[in-house]
Amino acid sequence: MATDPANPSDDEAPLSDRPYDGIEYLEHAPPSWWKGLFAATIVFSVLYLQFYHLGTPGRSAVERYDQALAENMRLQFAEIGELQPDEATLVRMMNDSRWVRVGESVYRTHCVSCHGIDGGGVVGPNLTDDHYKNTRTIGDILRVVQNGAAAGAMPPWRDKLHLNEQILVSSFVASLRGTTPTNPRGPEGNVIPPWPTEVPEPESAAAPQAESAPPAAPDQPAS
Ligand code: HEC
Repeated sequence: MATDPANPSDDEAPLSDRPYDGIEYLEHAPPSWWKGLFAATIVFSVLYLQFYHLGTPGRSAVERYDQALAENMRLQFAEIGELQPDEATLVRMMNDSRWVRVGESVYRTHCVSCHGIDGGGVVGPNLTDDHYKNTRTIGDILRVVQNGAAAGAMPPWRDKLHLNEQILVSSFVASLRGTTPTNPRGPEGNVIPPWPTEVPEPESAAAPQAESAPPAAPDQPAS
């Protein structure tokens, strides 16, 4: 077996004595750089596991992501401070496209599974039409979000979301009213009056622009 016609390179390596499916091959040891790399990956995996998963808590990718989210939220909310859970705030936020978008991201994370991406309803009711089951005023949205409804079929979010998130997601839900979802559920509950376009701020916390704006012209976000 010295000169193999299939091995014109004149390789000195011995022929393997374990042919597979009749195919014979030369018995080459893997190159040492390859073995070194292989060993290095094993060593690395042990160190990685030790550092990110078994060592100090807070180093894994998931935990870092959560920390980054929390930090991001602190930064965002540093700007608006602690929102008041009242109708004036809900209306003000509903008409502020920037903060409605923050509410939308909360909605996308927690509410889409039951209410649909565009609020058309899945397990939960359609949030875009004029019919509501548990809601008569815009403040009721926040109450339902906080306390849940139908014995937990609509879960309570009081302890799961930051108060600002509860308020902003409620404002976002209010802003869905009148939009056209692709696959809406039929109407449920009663027709309720339109949301107020403006609610006077409680005395001390008056928003600067709220006084001069005419009540008939809320600056609705275009989208
Ligand atoms: C597990 C499914 C589920 C999730 C998740 C869920 N909901 Fe609901 N939601 C429901 C159901 C079911 C109802 C209807 C309750 C009833 O029949 O009285 C409801 C009702 C509501 C209502 C009252 C609607 C009305 O007609 O009065 C609002 C507002 C609402 N949900 C907002 C939200 C928001 C905001 C979130 C995310 C933070 C959310 N829901 C997450 C299932 C859900």
